[in-house]
Amino acid sequence: MKVFITGGTTGIGWSLAQEYLNDGHTVGICGRDLSRIESGALEKYKNLQAFRADVTNREELISAIDKFSGGCLDLMIASAGRSVGSKTKTPDFNASRDVININVLGVLNTFEGALKNMLPNKAGHIAAVASVAGMVGLPGASSYSASKAAVLKLCESYSLDLKGFNIDVTCIAPGFVDTPLTQKNDHGMPWLMSSEVAAKKIRKALDRKKVLFVFPWQMKTVMFILERLPRWMYRGFMQLPFANYSK
Ligand SMILES: NC(=O)c1ccc[n+]([C@@H]2O[C@H](COP(=O)([O-])OP(=O)(O)OC[C@H]3O[C@@H](n4cnc5c(N)ncnc54)[C@H](OP(=O)(O)O)[C@@H]3O)[C@@H](O)[C@H]2O)c1
Repeated sequence: MKVFITGGTTGIGWSLAQEYLNDGHTVGICGRDLSRIESGALEKYKNLQAFRADVTNREELISAIDKFSGGCLDLMIASAGRSVGSKTKTPDFNASRDVININVLGVLNTFEGALKNMLPNKAGHIAAVASVAGMVGLPGASSYSASKAAVLKLCESYSLDLKGFNIDVTCIAPGFVDTPLTQKNDHGMPWLMSSEVAAKKIRKALDRKKVLFVFPWQMKTVMFILERLPRWMYRGFMQLPFANYSK
């Protein structure tokens, strides 16, 4: 199988890459800074190809995908993403623009590059790493929540539209995973899991062609309730001390 993973140089993307590499699949990864790849990985894995590409640069990204796939791509995982960093009561608009560019337009560019190679073959599987943060508007993380909500809905629509073309769609919504992205967080992270454990769970969901995979179950339960509360009740709940942050 040929698998391309954006943001495959670190974190969840890299752990997923190793899942497929260890099973003998051919994996392409991309990121803006290839020096972030674990040292020795390119020598260790002969079936690994790395591309320097920014997901917000449509031409650069699609050219990397084309080079890797040569017209045949089985699975595309859009994992590249960023968070806003510290929670703030007033939005940082520059950071917010970057979050939307990478997390939303980056996924669109990724899927465009994937479908260019999948639609002619009427076969393939596209997936994106959204977040449980997209299920509600989280305080202090407006652009991140908005970006992940967009990815959740994009995938939901694609799963309907692409069914007739034999293209599977999976949206992954993790809770907290221990990666460089979350290591900067200055707030509590309940049910934090390692990226290796997360990758194993995601791989299983991808193998089963699940349309939506929300995990871990504890976070899924909490988010399921928060998503369905009357909004006045949700807003009241989010005023409680546990949701407070200083900035
Ligand atoms: N960790 C969590 O708790 C968690 C929870 C829910 C969802 N997620 C989502 O999971 C995905 C992966 O996050 P992670 O935790 O694995 O973070 P990470 O370790 O920081 O990895 C992010 C990856 O994305 C790449 N990237 C960022 N901006 C890019 C751009 N413009 N173009 C190309 N590549 C770019 C990074 O490489 P370069 O910087 O070198 O480009 C890196 O490879 C993200 O979409 C994130 O929102 C994470």
